[in-house]
Amino acid sequence: MQDKSKLNVLSIGCGPCTDLFALDCLSNAHEYNFDKLEYIGVDLLPQPWGRLHNEIKDYYTNNPEIKAGFCYDDINNVIPILIDKEFKADLIIMNYLLSDFHKYGGQRSVLDFLNNLVYYINNICPDTAIVINDINLDCSRGGGRDYFDTLYRKLSHSGFRCCQLHFDNSNKERHFEYGNEYPSNDLLFDPRIVNEYYSFDPYESCASAQIIIYKE
Ligand SMILES: C[S@@+](CC[C@H](N)C(=O)[O-])C[C@H]1O[C@@H](n2cnc3c(N)ncnc32)[C@H](O)[C@@H]1O
Repeated sequence: MQDKSKLNVLSIGCGPCTDLFALDCLSNAHEYNFDKLEYIGVDLLPQPWGRLHNEIKDYYTNNPEIKAGFCYDDINNVIPILIDKEFKADLIIMNYLLSDFHKYGGQRSVLDFLNNLVYYINNICPDTAIVINDINLDCSRGGGRDYFDTLYRKLSHSGFRCCQLHFDNSNKERHFEYGNEYPSNDLLFDPRIVNEYYSFDPYESCASAQIIIYKE
């Protein structure tokens, strides 16, 4: 992906687009460079996210290198459109989607989604990378981490590899193991900046789990 001059990103359950801000931040820090970025965010909720999405579109108005578009619908209704339009995602992001999807949509709906997603990937973007980040809990405990490996198993037949990771959870005495543990759970951002937002009660360390599914 480092070689891509134009990056197509599909964010499923994009909400306030934290992933887009992360890409922007990495680009500004010259840690990850792309010349152009097309970002499609899909979310069930036009409100409250629509207002923020309009601000994001305004913010990028004078930057022809970054295009952000949004679609408000269930991802299961959007995948056929992505297939029809042959949107080739280089990167698919699901940031805290699966726990939410499982909680409100139920297992059947998530499994349908994963099958639809695998069909989309295999037929339209067989070299995409997928990044999933979510709370480090399985479905029976209010999370959706079981689905990380369900998706990987389905894609492993098409030559995908994976990397599983989790942070040490400083908020609890114990945490669940999932793949390798990062050497540090420090926030990437300067705590002085994070503290400016104390009224939102931000976490002081990382505690989530991730799977990165990719082709070599
Ligand atoms: C916990 S929020 C995470 C938002 C964002 N990714 C972030 O990390 O800040 C989960 C989002 O997934 C969306 N979502 C849940 N099920 C969905 C579905 N079936 N299709 C599209 N979006 C969905 C919700 O509306 C919500 O905005």
